[in-house]
Amino acid sequence: MTALPRYAVFGNPVAHSKSPQIHQQFALQEGVDIEYERICADIGGFAQAVSTFFETGGCGANVTVPFKQEAFDLADEHSDRALAAGAVNTLIPLKNGKLRGDNTDGIGLANDITQVKNIAIEDKTILLLGAGGAVRGVIPVLKEHRPVRIVIANRTHAKAEELAQLFGIEAAPMADLNGGFDIIINGTSGGLSGQLPAVSPEIFRNCRLAYDMVYGDAAQAFLNFAQSNGAAEVSDGLGMLVGQAAASYHIWRGFTPDIRPVIEYMKAL
Ligand code: ATR
Repeated sequence: MTALPRYAVFGNPVAHSKSPQIHQQFALQEGVDIEYERICADIGGFAQAVSTFFETGGCGANVTVPFKQEAFDLADEHSDRALAAGAVNTLIPLKNGKLRGDNTDGIGLANDITQVKNIAIEDKTILLLGAGGAVRGVIPVLKEHRPVRIVIANRTHAKAEELAQLFGIEAAPMADLNGGFDIIINGTSGGLSGQLPAVSPEIFRNCRLAYDMVYGDAAQAFLNFAQSNGAAEVSDGLGMLVGQAAASYHIWRGFTPDIRPVIEYMKAL
């Protein structure tokens, strides 16, 4: 019997990851059988776990919290997107035994907004809340979509200024924000503990889309706040999750999954 192509997501913790179900849906679309497992690497044991996986025939891996930076350091070569983001969520084994690192988080976010929600990023004013790894990872692709402005605001303003300088976007103190944004994206991790970024409710007036990069319960407080203060549409990050997975799958297998039915499937689980 021929072994199935093997893929995995590395994280810690990783038991909650929905990546296996998502990739199995893509494989169904492609009409192939694959294995896709969750691997919880020890902190300090990520590089070893990844080498073992690829030495034993792994065909591709996703990387999630807290290893995206380590995955960047581990990769022998990088896509432009990974270089710009400074983080890797997709590892690709090359024929010469080396590892290539890519970052599909920004594609996942941008495709969800433009293709699933049908909202163009081009010519819009975007507000990014947060200045951690999650936000940094998506700025390069958002810029490629040519918004009029990207403004970044963070609880620790100096970190927003740092990213603004690095990527040539604007930084503003959170307390100074007062509206004028078409798309507002929450990339702070506060929602995981039920906390809202300290922004004025006024910022959601005339907002076309308020988006939280996390999905499920952790996104709800922010999305309720946005909707009750005027955001026309709100969305959690499930579509981003499916979109980044689809872009990884395409890189590994050359097959482009249709993300819409998989988002619906995952909502219904
Ligand atoms: P991630 O990989 O999820 O981006 P991170 O790099 O630790 O995680 O970044 C977390 C982000 O959420 C930061 O922008 C952080 O703000 P600080 O830079 O001021 O720490 C932000 N954050 C976390 N908890 C928050 C809260 N309760 N309110 C506002 N911002 C919060």
